Amino acid sequence: MSQQIVVNQDILEFEYAVRGPIPQKAAELKTQGKTIIPCNIGNPQALGQKPISFYRQVLSLVEEPSRIGRERKLNKLLKDSGGLGDLAEKELVSDYVLDLSDEILSKLQTGMGAYTESKGPLFIREAIAAYIDKRDGAGVPSNPDNIFLTNGASEGVRFLIEMLIADEKDGIMVPVPQYPLYSASIRKCGGVQVSYFHIHNVFDLGAGHRAHLFLVWLTRSLGDISGFFQ
Ligand SMILES: Cc1ncc(COP(=O)(O)O)c(C=O)c1O
Repeated sequence: MSQQIVVNQDILEFEYAVRGPIPQKAAELKTQGKTIIPCNIGNPQALGQKPISFYRQVLSLVEEPSRIGRERKLNKLLKDSGGLGDLAEKELVSDYVLDLSDEILSKLQTGMGAYTESKGPLFIREAIAAYIDKRDGAGVPSNPDNIFLTNGASEGVRFLIEMLIADEKDGIMVPVPQYPLYSASIRKCGGVQVSYFHIHNVFDLGAGHRAHLFLVWLTRSLGDISGFFQ
């Protein structure tokens, strides 16, 4: 006898895919054999941008530290002999990347591949706090204990939305057009999306007016939905 499994209705109603007339038209053109390059997702390498080697090199070296010594030997050989056959200097890993990888490994108390502190390694949170202080100038100093590292922006946004939506009467204002992560996460958590047009860059009416117009749009969007919250 088959048994029906009850699943979370919010997950059934959750939509991540970008929809609407443009993706529909693109799908139609694709079936006609046209080449379609989707630009709705920030995916530069799919559009031919070369992978950024810096991150990949550091990551591969901290994952496999024995390579650091080998790369250093290759660099020394090149320097001493003035050439390594077909191997060009630009194919070698720079001393900067090697030193940085060594530094990261020396500061990772649990080594690579193991769990770190839940918030992320302290030395990275300290570096982020120092960057925020430098970027934002004097004021409230950034506290590394209040910084949480996440796997990309999506995980951080989901954590915050999950925390902020306590029931179906909680709404989150989202500038539209939006990236579907926001509508999908709000839907999944059972809250309400309050859209507003992010147009203050389009209409710059001179000193002060831009901010005022922005506030008018925010207030109007909130007004449109306010009946729902009563
Ligand atoms: C506005 C916006 N939010 C979130 C994301 C997702 O970021 P991540 O891949 O770091 O999770 C993207 C990715 O393109 C984005 O454009």
